[in-house]
Amino acid sequence: MCQLGMNIDHVATIRQARRTYEPDPIWAAVEAQLAGADCITIHLREDRRHICDRDLERLKETVQVKLNLEMAATDEMVAIACREQPQMATLVPEGRLEVTTEGGLDVAGQRDRLTEVVSRLSDAGVSVSAFIDADEDQIDAAAVAGFAWCEVHTGPFAHAHYEAHGDMADDRVLDGLDVVIRAGEQIIDAGMRFNAGHALNYRNVSPIAAIPGVQELHIGHSIIARAVFVGLREAIEEMKALIDAAEALGD
Ligand code: PXP
Repeated sequence: MCQLGMNIDHVATIRQARRTYEPDPIWAAVEAQLAGADCITIHLREDRRHICDRDLERLKETVQVKLNLEMAATDEMVAIACREQPQMATLVPEGRLEVTTEGGLDVAGQRDRLTEVVSRLSDAGVSVSAFIDADEDQIDAAAVAGFAWCEVHTGPFAHAHYEAHGDMADDRVLDGLDVVIRAGEQIIDAGMRFNAGHALNYRNVSPIAAIPGVQELHIGHSIIARAVFVGLREAIEEMKALIDAAEALGD
C-alpha cells in the first residue's frame, strides 16, 4: 500500500514567523494522524528556521505512526538522531540560502562519509533513507552505502507537469514520469525500498502514486497550502483519497 508521509515543517514556519507558541506542530501531527497520515516528517535544519530541537523531542514522545527526521549528514544532526531515535532519517543536502531542499543528495560524491553515517544511524535503530535524483549512479552508490530506502526527487516531473498544464500526453511529462519509474525499478532491484517526494500536489500526485512498488510519498507544501482553506484534516484526507485511488488503478 502506498503510504503518505506528511511533512509538517510549514506549521512551524508560521509559528516562527512570530517566534510564538502557535500553531503547534504537535497539534498538526495529531490532526495528521487522525486524518490517516502514515508517517510524520520534520526537517530539523541547521539554522532551526522552522522545526526546533524541542519539537523533535515532543514529537518523538507523542507521534504514534512513523516519525521521519529529514536532516543533513552533519555530526551535529547525526548525534541528535542517534539520541532521539526517530524510526526513519532521510538524509538531504542542505543549503543555508535555499527556500526548500533543492536537489538530491550527492551520495556518489561522498560515499565513504555517508556509509559511516548510515552505519551510525542504523546501529542506533534508525532506518535510513537517501533523498536522491533519479540517477543510476546515485542509486548504485546508495545501495553500496547501505541505505535501506531511497526517496526519488519528483521535482523535475512536477515541474514538467506544471509547464504542460497537466497534460499527461505531453512528452516532457511522460519523460519525467518514466525517469521516476525507472529509478524505482532500479532501487527495488538493488534491494532498497522506494519512496518519492517533492513538489507533489493534488494535480500531479496520481501518476506517481500509481507507480508499482512505490511505498511512501512525502508531501508537505501543497497539503499545508490547502489546509489554510479547508483545515489540515480535510486536506490530508483528500490527498490520501487521491493516493489510494491512483494506487488501485495501478494494480
Ligand atoms: N521530501 C523531501 C526530502 C523534502 O526535503 C521535502 C521538502 O521539505 C519534501 C519531500 C516535501 O516537498 P513539498 O513540500 O514540495 O511537498
